[in-house]
Amino acid sequence: MNNWWKDLPRPILCLAPMSGYTESPFRRLVREIEPSTVLISELISAEAMRRGNEKTMRLTSFHADESKYYCVQLFGKTVEAFIEAGKMVEDMGADGIDLNLGCPSPKVVGSGHGSALLKDPCASAKMMESLVKAVNIPVSVKMRLGFYDDTNILSTVKTFESAGIASVAIHGRTTKQAYRGQANWEPIYRVKEESNIPVLGNGDVTSATIAVKKLQNLDGMMIGRASLRNPWIFRQCRAAFDGQEIPKKPPLEEQLEFFRKHAKLGIAFKGEQWAMIELRKHFAHFVRGVRHASKFREQLIRVESYAQLERIFDDILAVSRGEKEYVSPLVVEK
Ligand SMILES: Cc1cc2nc3c(=O)[nH]c(=O)nc-3n(C[C@H](O)[C@H](O)[C@H](O)COP(=O)(O)O)c2cc1C
Repeated sequence: MNNWWKDLPRPILCLAPMSGYTESPFRRLVREIEPSTVLISELISAEAMRRGNEKTMRLTSFHADESKYYCVQLFGKTVEAFIEAGKMVEDMGADGIDLNLGCPSPKVVGSGHGSALLKDPCASAKMMESLVKAVNIPVSVKMRLGFYDDTNILSTVKTFESAGIASVAIHGRTTKQAYRGQANWEPIYRVKEESNIPVLGNGDVTSATIAVKKLQNLDGMMIGRASLRNPWIFRQCRAAFDGQEIPKKPPLEEQLEFFRKHAKLGIAFKGEQWAMIELRKHFAHFVRGVRHASKFREQLIRVESYAQLERIFDDILAVSRGEKEYVSPLVVEK
């Protein structure tokens, strides 16, 4: 097995998997913005994949632009499902398999999946070992500090490392914390001191300056939510890590061009209706910071066609340039 995680230029930058957001169109754009970014699918049910579920198979699909490096993230609880789905991921031509040991959602945890696997690290490691032996692509893990607390994190990661895991990304919160409080990176730095595999930190990186502060002894980091508002954060982080001046977020025209492209890729990926519904939440994130943001958000979360989206984008630009005043579409209709 070629553990390319070990050979990636440091620090490693990775788009954190985000269910409902990090589908192929968004991943391709992030790759275009910063080519060194590692990409991961959102969490995919190993069980659904082995059954060949159509929706699941579409979620795993990727464009040639995404390799290298693209991993499919699997969640599951049986070794049979992990191995069968893992082999399918390998056959698809993905570069790696990432195992989800981080999802805190009651539905996922309650059925013994996601971060529930942190409750019995030895049993989870046995599954990992079997999967690692069954495939020729690296198997990485994305996990939390622990289920209830972080007391076992060092031994847990050591156990996973012995099972042949290629790298580990740790979100600095426990399962019980979900998304509350601040991510604590201290235990992650301690894990790195004891590990022979690449260790990535994750949680609350909201700017390149914060990324530089948080990196310390780690091999890299995953960035999630901040990239929805600012996908250029990966380029900004790379520049900051290389000691260069941090490039500014592009001007509004360029940002709008990015989201137009996102919409077009989305339409090509799953059709206009899907793209408009799915991308509404992306547009709502982006619009923060523009003039009359809340009013435009109201429009964007209802957008139904590409033509409508273009009109809203034209309005955003004209209003922000002061070329026209904001006019409610309801007023126009009257
Ligand atoms: C909407 C949303 C969906 C997520 N989906 C996944 C997922 O599918 N798999 C996973 O491992 N983590 C998932 N996460 C967790 C993120 O990958 C990441 O660990 C978390 O957001 C903390 O990083 P951040 O502060 O950079 O966002 C999700 C987070 C959010 C906000």
